[in-house]
Amino acid sequence: MALLKIARMGHPVLRRRCDPIEVPDDPELARLARDMVETMLDAPGVGLAAPQVHAAVRMIVYHVPAERADEEGPGEVAPRVLVNPVLTAIGDRLVGGLEGCLSIPGLRGIVPRHETVHWAALDLMGRPIEGEAAGFEARILQHEVDHLDGVLYLDRMIDPADLAFDSEIGHLLERMEARR
Ligand code: NI
Repeated sequence: MALLKIARMGHPVLRRRCDPIEVPDDPELARLARDMVETMLDAPGVGLAAPQVHAAVRMIVYHVPAERADEEGPGEVAPRVLVNPVLTAIGDRLVGGLEGCLSIPGLRGIVPRHETVHWAALDLMGRPIEGEAAGFEARILQHEVDHLDGVLYLDRMIDPADLAFDSEIGHLLERMEARR
């Protein structure tokens, strides 16, 4: 197990379209996945995409800790690895919510995301897995899968004034409330 170096915004690995994984059942890939989970938990973060640790392949890890599980979502989700994940939005509803990114430390922004998504992927044995995610879990999945296409949450924001430093997060919450 090892903590991996996290790429920061500006590094080109965060702006490329990542390659599909042809052979998921691979010890090297399993080690990368384990190290990504360890790095995510250490950061701490709720999600990490392979390009964020300088590996331009289509794999993400994420979890929903108990304290972040919301009412619309499925509750706590233990750390999970998705290989070649594909998301399909369920419904048209977009919801603004706060996001940060381990590759853009110190900042938070209000980002519109689909409220509910279906996800399909492979596990590390190469077996198909799928599910539905809502609320915070759906937001994490959309953020992480965007990374695999070189997209950062800043690109999804509607208003640059919706970006703030962590210490000013209260003002972002007020902006979100005002829009509801
Ligand atoms: Ni991110």
